[in-house]
Amino acid sequence: MPRKIVVTSALPYANGPIHIGHLVEYLQTDIWVRFQKMCGNQCLYFCADDTHGTPIMISARAAGITPEELIEQVHKEHKADFDGFHIEFDNYYSTHTPENKYFSELIFKRLNQAGSIVKRNVEQAYCENCRMSLPDRFVRGTCPRCKAENQYGDSCEVCSTTYQPTDLINPYCATCRAKPVLRTSEHYFFKLADYETQLKDLIAGGYAQKSVANKLDEWFTTGLKDWDISRDGPYFGFKIPGEENKFFYVWLDAPIGYMASAKNYCDRNNLDFDNLWNSGEYELYHFIGKVIMYFHSLFFPAMLIGSGFRPANKLFVHGFLTVNGEKMSKSRGTFIKASTYIKYLDPEYLRYYYASKLTDGIDDIDLRIEDFVNKTNSNLVGKFANLASRSGPMLTKKLDAQLGRLDQAGRELINKLAAAKDQIIKDYEGLNFAAAVRTITALADEANRYVEQNQPWVTVKTDLEKTRATLTAVVNAVRILTIYLKPILPKYSQKVQQFLNVDTLTFADVETVLENHKINDFQRLVERIDEKQVNAMIEESKDTGAPGPPADTEEQTVTAEPLKPECTIEDFAKIDLRIAKVVKAEPVEGADKLLRLVLDVGPPPGGQKSVLAGIAQAYTPDELTGKIVVYLANLKPRQMRFGLSEGMILAAGTGGKDIFMLSADAGAKPGRQVS
Ligand code: 2FM
Ligand code: ZN
Repeated sequence: MPRKIVVTSALPYANGPIHIGHLVEYLQTDIWVRFQKMCGNQCLYFCADDTHGTPIMISARAAGITPEELIEQVHKEHKADFDGFHIEFDNYYSTHTPENKYFSELIFKRLNQAGSIVKRNVEQAYCENCRMSLPDRFVRGTCPRCKAENQYGDSCEVCSTTYQPTDLINPYCATCRAKPVLRTSEHYFFKLADYETQLKDLIAGGYAQKSVANKLDEWFTTGLKDWDISRDGPYFGFKIPGEENKFFYVWLDAPIGYMASAKNYCDRNNLDFDNLWNSGEYELYHFIGKVIMYFHSLFFPAMLIGSGFRPANKLFVHGFLTVNGEKMSKSRGTFIKASTYIKYLDPEYLRYYYASKLTDGIDDIDLRIEDFVNKTNSNLVGKFANLASRSGPMLTKKLDAQLGRLDQAGRELINKLAAAKDQIIKDYEGLNFAAAVRTITALADEANRYVEQNQPWVTVKTDLEKTRATLTAVVNAVRILTIYLKPILPKYSQKVQQFLNVDTLTFADVETVLENHKINDFQRLVERIDEKQVNAMIEESKDTGAPGPPADTEEQTVTAEPLKPECTIEDFAKIDLRIAKVVKAEPVEGADKLLRLVLDVGPPPGGQKSVLAGIAQAYTPDELTGKIVVYLANLKPRQMRFGLSEGMILAAGTGGKDIFMLSADAGAKPGRQVS
């Protein structure tokens, strides 16, 4: 009996473009869904845009359009990006829809009836200038612990402490810089702890991978806290029934968007949603990134259980994407939008590359540009496509495009290729795409060796029928390898099907061979990557103004930093900039972003100064030692938790790894004034 499966990928926020980081998940899911379909299973793939929340409201405001207009525009862009990468949803919907409103209200009502919702007063930051409550990421100020300035309202990027926005020293609104006031407001909370036993049972029953389950154990040990599920207006979202100015928090209705997308599909295709979601007839899986594990392993299943809906059978959690071993970066041009990629490169290169790296674990996957180019050229072009181009043209030109019968050696080769089917299916099923690709590549090597041994380009001059038998084996090898690669390379496979003159290939076709069969003219299957295209893509991706790397909560996206109040020339003249030499640099225990620097600032009044600098992610101590830097000498010394910091060195950049020290001429003498 074919299986019935429903699959979802996380819903991308509707205020930014799809980039190659997002694509890890959508490609992983799409490959798995295509694989299921090729096994003869019924597999439905649902997704949608995640449209609610403060950042979307503010982005729309900044663009001078309504949130509805913004999300409509972004929906089109996202859909075009996904189509470009051959990601085939059965429904790509939106959370700003009647179905989602219906389910959000229904689930809320049922949870309320079950006694799982409570109301409580909270104190929150409110900007009187912007006339809105400020989410944590929209309040900034000085870290209460290490005193670093301009930190977010929920955690300090310098010392990594987490805290409440109300703990910040000198807090200000990230949009307008006004000082927020504290306001008391009544919020709705979901009593997550009520579901602890059910959640533990769910997880013990295999709801998540082992590594995820371990993380969940930690959360259980810390204790499940009530979850704040309401936000005060103005807010772009669904109004809470019976309230004038309170809305469901975006993370309440976002995962319910999976159901809304499914419901919308069911209604348009005469399927019964209740049966699909609740009867157990369909297996249900969510593909997500590890950063949103908490929402999908605790809040969402608890909400579903509490409201009489079935949680998924399993979460498939993957890691982040790094590029050349580092976080995607706009300054390095590795923050590559899907739409930029598509202008320069074939999407199947990336599909193949990601597949060759993906496992069932939650480790990050690294896109090494050089490796990407090499793998594409040597495997995709050099091994798979090459096999077809070594057989197709010769068959059509010299042998009337007519396959013969397999001889003994050919049959052995094909049997060997076919024998790998079960293992490859197992690896696809278990999300070990990397293992599947390794097996398929080894089989392609085998087939290429067969060509070398049989030398059809030689035999074609003397023995046409022997050549026909050899090429029949090669074409059958191409056919089987294409079946194995088809979930990863849908377009490549279509071209092979056309060339082989066969119907849509499935895994069942591995069991049969093509003999005495007419093929079509050969057309090139895939081009080599030209490194120039890759460089041009990276060049175009530099500082495009695209939003930063994936946000882990909707509140992470903050609009452009406004200018600080005007500074006069007199103010500026107070600054004393000096040349300094880093004589020592060392890590600071307990603060992974800080380095302690000892600077030589020349003869008195310079001397040696100790500075704590938040640059540990951009530079190693070794890289800094001996560097000539620009030093703000008359900054009032600050007593930080990790010691006294006497002054500051100057750097530019957006933070994290993207910090670039302003250095002076290597010959400049420490202590000299900079003007
Ligand atoms: O983290 C994100 O990008 C969210 N938009 C994911 C939501 S997934 C689901 F819960 F809707
Ligand atoms: Zn404001």
